[in-house]
Amino acid sequence: MSEASLPFNDKILPGRILKEEWEKSIKNPQEYWAEKAKAIDWFRTWDKVLDDSNPPFYKWFPGGVLNICHNALDRHLDTPRKNMLAYIWEGENGEVRTYTYYQLYREVNKLAKVFKNFGLKKGDRVAVYLPMIPELPITLLATARVGGVHTVVFSGFSAEALAGRINDSGAKIVVTADGAYRRGKTVTLKDTADRAVAATPSVEKVIVVKRTGQTVPMKEGRDYYYHEALAKVEPNAYVPPEPMEATEPLFILYTSGTTGKPKGVLHGIGGYLVWGYWTLKWGFDPNEKDIWWCTADIGWITGHTYNVYAPLALGITSFIFEGTPDYPAQDRWWEMIERHGVTILYTTPTAIRMFMKFGEEWVNKHDLSTLRLLGTVGEPINPEAWKWYDRVMGKNKLSIIDTWWQTETGGFMIAPLPGIELVPLKPGSATNPLPSIYAEVCDEKGQPTPTGVKGFLVVKTPWPGMLETLWKDPERYKQTYFGRWPNIYYTGDYAVRDPDGYFWLLGRADEVLKVAGHRIGTVELESALVSHPAVSEAAVMGKEDAIKGEVPVAFVTLRSGFSPSEELRQQLVQHVRATIGPIATPDAIVIVNKLPKTRSGKIMRRLLKAVLAGAALGDVSTLEDEASVEDIKATYDELKRQLEKK
Ligand code: PRX
Repeated sequence: MSEASLPFNDKILPGRILKEEWEKSIKNPQEYWAEKAKAIDWFRTWDKVLDDSNPPFYKWFPGGVLNICHNALDRHLDTPRKNMLAYIWEGENGEVRTYTYYQLYREVNKLAKVFKNFGLKKGDRVAVYLPMIPELPITLLATARVGGVHTVVFSGFSAEALAGRINDSGAKIVVTADGAYRRGKTVTLKDTADRAVAATPSVEKVIVVKRTGQTVPMKEGRDYYYHEALAKVEPNAYVPPEPMEATEPLFILYTSGTTGKPKGVLHGIGGYLVWGYWTLKWGFDPNEKDIWWCTADIGWITGHTYNVYAPLALGITSFIFEGTPDYPAQDRWWEMIERHGVTILYTTPTAIRMFMKFGEEWVNKHDLSTLRLLGTVGEPINPEAWKWYDRVMGKNKLSIIDTWWQTETGGFMIAPLPGIELVPLKPGSATNPLPSIYAEVCDEKGQPTPTGVKGFLVVKTPWPGMLETLWKDPERYKQTYFGRWPNIYYTGDYAVRDPDGYFWLLGRADEVLKVAGHRIGTVELESALVSHPAVSEAAVMGKEDAIKGEVPVAFVTLRSGFSPSEELRQQLVQHVRATIGPIATPDAIVIVNKLPKTRSGKIMRRLLKAVLAGAALGDVSTLEDEASVEDIKATYDELKRQLEKK
C-alpha cells in the first residue's frame, strides 16, 4: 500500500506512543520490520524485508536464512538463560517435570537425530497426534531443527480426521502416544493413530511416546517407542540446525472454513517468528522472572505460537498442563497457579465462564498474588465474563489483555499492548490494532462503516505473521482471504467500532462456529451427517450457550425406510464423533420431516436460527411450504423438553 493512499484516522488509536508506533509501521514497513527483526538470530540477512510484488502472495524477509529451533534454544546457551527453566509441566496425575533451556536442547537434539536416522529430510512433513505432554513441543522443535514441516492434529480429532490431514500433508512420520489421561481415566491414542495410518500410504515410521503405559500393538519396522529410539542415540547427540530460507514452510495447521474440507493453513519461518516474538512482547511484556501460562493445547495455533515459538524465542519460562480445569477438583488451576507461582495467565472466555459457574469461593481459597497480568483469546468475551475475570482473578488490579487473532494471522492482531503503552480498557473490547495492522470495519461493498455500525472486519496491510498460502491450494487462499475485495484480507468476523475508535468483535460472519473457542465448520458437520445411511439432508446451526459461547445443533431429515428414534439420534451423534472427533459432538440432533426451503430449494438457515433462539420467525412468505417451519419448531420444542427433563 502506498503511503499517499493511507487515510489516517485520528481515532484509530487513542494512545500517543501507540499511535506513533502504528503510523511508523504503516508508513514504512520495510524500515520498521528491519529494525524489529534484529531481535532474531539470522544466519544470513534478508535481501528485502517485504516483497509485495505478487499480492496476495507476500514474502517476508526473502533471502534471509535462519532456523527457528536455533532461535528457541541454541542462542540462549551462551547466556544465563541456559540454566533457566524453559518449561514447567504438570501432568493430570500431579506429576511435575521441568526442563531448563539446556535440557530441552539436549532432548530436542536427540529426537532430531532419530528423525535424521529415519530419513527425514528438509521439507518432509511430520504429523503430530499427542496429548499436552513435553514431548509435544519437543517434537515441534526437533522437526523444525532438521527443516521438516509439522502438522499437529489436536488429540480430540478422530482417526478419519487424522487420516485426512496426514494424507493431505503427505506426512512421512507420525508422532503419537500410547494413550492419554482424561479425568483420571486413560484413553487410547495409538489405536486411533493406527486406524488412521492404515489409510495413509505416505507414513513410514510411527514414534510412540509411552504416557499411560497401556499395552498397545506395535508394528515391527514401522512403530518405535520414543524412549527406546532416543536411548539408542548418543546422549550428547548434536544435529546442526538446518539453515532455512525465511519463506520456507514451518508448519501446516488445518482449520475449519466454509466448505467440508478443512484448510491447511501454511506458515513460514521468518515472518512468523518475528511476529510471534514481538506480539508476545508487546501484549504481555514477559521477562525472565515470569511464569507464563497459556492454557491452550498445542494442537491449536495459540499453543503453537504462545506455548512454543514465541516464549522460547523470548527466553522465558512457560508452565504447561496436561489436564482439564476441574479435575480432581474445581480449583485445580488456582491450586497450580499458587504452587508454581504463575505470573501471567492467558486463557479463553469459555474457561472464565465455567469458573464463574463453579463459583468464586474456589478461587478465593488460594493465594493468587503472583499474578500480574491476565489475557483472553479464542472468542468474543462478554462484558460479564470480562468483569468477573477482572474482579475475581485480578482483584481489580490487573489489566485484561483481550487478544483477537486467528490461525491464519499467526499471532495477535487487535489487543491492548502494555509492552508499548497501555490504553484505557473497556470490558469486552480488544481495543486497537497492532503495528502493521490496518484494520477496518467494512460494509458489503468494502467501504468503511460509520462509527457504531456493524460490518466485516478486514485488514488492509500485510503483516509478518500472516499465512503464506493454503497447503497445495494457492487458488483457495486467494479466493478465501482476498477474493471478496482485491488485496484486502477478509477475516470472516463481524466487528463494530465505538466513538473512541475501539474495536468490538462480534463473532463469525460465515458458517464457522466457535464452540468453546474451537473452530468448527457447520458444513463439515453437515457432510459428516449426510455420510450416515439414514440421513437425507442436514443443516447445522450454532445455538447460544452460556458457557461455551455456542454449540452445534443439527436439523436432519431421514431417508425413506428410517424413522426418528432416540436410538437413531444417539447413533448419529456417535457417527459425528467417529467422523470428525469428540470436539464436534452436536449438542442436539433434531429429526424433522422437512427442512424449511425457499421455492428455489435453498435451506432457510435464518429460520432455523430463529427456532433455536426462540425468536420470532419473521417473514416466511418465500417458503416453499410454510407449515414445515411450525412442524420443526414443535419438534425442537419437544426435544428440548425431553433434554431438560434428563
Ligand atoms: O471469530 C474469531 C475468534 O476466533 C476466530 C479464529 O479462530 P482460530 O483460527 O481457531 O484461532 C483462535 C485463536 C487465535 C476468529 O475469527 N476469536 C479469536 N480471538 C477472539 C475472537 N473473537 C473475539 N475476540 C477474541 N479475542
